[in-house]
Amino acid sequence: MPSALVLGTQWGDEGKGKLVDFLTESAHVVARYQGGHNAGHTVVVNGRKFVLHLLPSGILRSDKLSIIGNGTVVDPRCLIEEIDGLRAEGLKVDENLLLSKGAHLIMPYHMAIEAAAEKQLGDKAIGTTLKGIGPAYTDKYQRTGVKVADLLMPEFFMERMKKNLEFKNMVLERIYGEKPLDAKAIFDEYMAYAERLKPHIADTDVAINRALDEGKNVLFEGAQGTLLDIDHGTYPFVTSSSAAAGGVCTGLGVAPTRVNRIVGVVKAYTTRVGSGPFPTELFDSVGEMLQQKGGEFGATTGRPRRCGWLDMVALRHAAMINGLTGVAITKLDILDGLDEIKICTSYQCDGKKVENFPSDAAMLERCVPQYESFPGWKGSTSGLNDFGDLPENARKYLKTIEEMLGVEIQLISTGPGREELISLKEQF
Ligand code: GDP
Ligand code: IMO
Ligand code: MG
Repeated sequence: MPSALVLGTQWGDEGKGKLVDFLTESAHVVARYQGGHNAGHTVVVNGRKFVLHLLPSGILRSDKLSIIGNGTVVDPRCLIEEIDGLRAEGLKVDENLLLSKGAHLIMPYHMAIEAAAEKQLGDKAIGTTLKGIGPAYTDKYQRTGVKVADLLMPEFFMERMKKNLEFKNMVLERIYGEKPLDAKAIFDEYMAYAERLKPHIADTDVAINRALDEGKNVLFEGAQGTLLDIDHGTYPFVTSSSAAAGGVCTGLGVAPTRVNRIVGVVKAYTTRVGSGPFPTELFDSVGEMLQQKGGEFGATTGRPRRCGWLDMVALRHAAMINGLTGVAITKLDILDGLDEIKICTSYQCDGKKVENFPSDAAMLERCVPQYESFPGWKGSTSGLNDFGDLPENARKYLKTIEEMLGVEIQLISTGPGREELISLKEQF
C-alpha cells in the first residue's frame, strides 16, 4: 500500500500543485483532504497554466482518479465552474472525479457572514480569502452543517438549511446590518448544483481504502500549509482546517498506518498572504525582488504575498508536526544572482534565545530572527534537471537546509514547468 502525502511546510503557496502534478504521473489516485477553494495550486504543463482551487492537481492527468475528501468544504457553484473551465480547455472531468458525501457545503450565508465579520474587524482582520471557509467549518463543528450527501435529499436539505438560515439571517440583519438571504432561492440554486454534481458523489473513504488494498499508489494533496493549520499554525491567523499531516486521516478516512511517505514542500524562501506574524519578513529591496521575480501574488485572490528569508525554526516545527520523511525544495531559481542568502536559525524574544516555534502568535510577533549568512551563486539554476549541474553555492545552500532540518531532500524544483525539476529519489 504505497502512499505519499505532499503538504506545505510554510504559510501556503510553496508549490504543492506543481509537485503533486509531477508525482501524479506514478500515482493511481490523488486526493484532497482539507480546505476548500481558498487554495490556489498552479500547474504549468507545456506552457499552459492551470490554477486549481478545489480539484486535486491530479485532475490534469485524465487516467488518474481524483478525490475530494470528506474533510474539505465545497462551494458547489465554484466547483462546477472549475470543472467547466477545465472541460473548456479540453480536459476530462467525468468518472475520474469523486466528491465525498461527507464533505460540508459552503452556503451563501457563510460567505455573507464572513465578509461582514472581516469588515467589522477592520485592521484586526485575518485577511481571509472571503470564500466562506471559516464559517462553513464553524457549522461543521457546531453540528449544524449541510453536507454534500444532503444535496441528494431535497426535503432534508431544505429543512436543515431553512433552520440554519433563520439564525444566520438574524446575525446578518441584527448584528451586521446586512440584507437577509432567501431560503427558496438558495434551495433552487443548490438543487440545480445537485443535478450537476450527482454523478461524482460517492463514499470516497471506501474508494481510497480499496485502492490501497489493491496496492495502487495513492497521493494525498495538502492545501494551505503547516503554519496555517488550525492547531499547529499561527492561530488565529490560520485557516480553519487541519492542513498538517494529521488531516489526512480524518479528512479522508485513511488510517495513520496507511500513510507511507510524507513530503514537505519548502519554498527556498518564505511567503505569506493575509495578516499575522512573519518573523523573517523583508521590507527591503530583496523582499521586493523575491515578490516580483517569484511572481508572488495570490493565485486565488491576486493579493501580493509578503516575502522573506527561509525560517528554519518554523521548518523544524513543520518537520516535527508532520513527521516528514522527505522534503521538496521549490523556487530555487528565484534566488539566482543574489550576493548573500540568509537562513533564520533561531529567534531572540524577551531577551532569550528561542529555538522552538512559539505556539502563541503574540509571542511570535515579538520574535527577532537570528540569521546565518551564506554566499549566493552567479549562474542560473532555471530549468535544470541534474543536481550536478547546480552552481556549487546552490548545492551548498541545499545541503545546509538538509543538515539543519535533518530531513532528506528528495526533489528540487527549478521552474514552474512540469519538467523543471531535479528528482533525487523514487517517490513511491
Ligand atoms: P501551491 O499553492 O503550494 O500549489 O503554490 P502556488 O501555485 O500558489 O504558488 C507557487 C507558484 O510558483 C506558482 O505560480 C508556480 O507555477 C510557481 N512555481 C512552482 N515551483 C516553481 C519553481 O521551482 N520555480 C519557479 N520560478 N516557479 C515555481
Ligand atoms: P494554497 O493551498 C496561502 C490564508 C489566507 C488567510 C488565512 C485564512 O494555495 O497554499 P481562509 O480563507 O482560509 O479562512 O483564510 O489563510 N490562506 C492561504 N494562504 N495559500 C493558501 O492556499 C491559502 N489558503 C488560505 O490568506 O491569511
Ligand atoms: Mg497557492
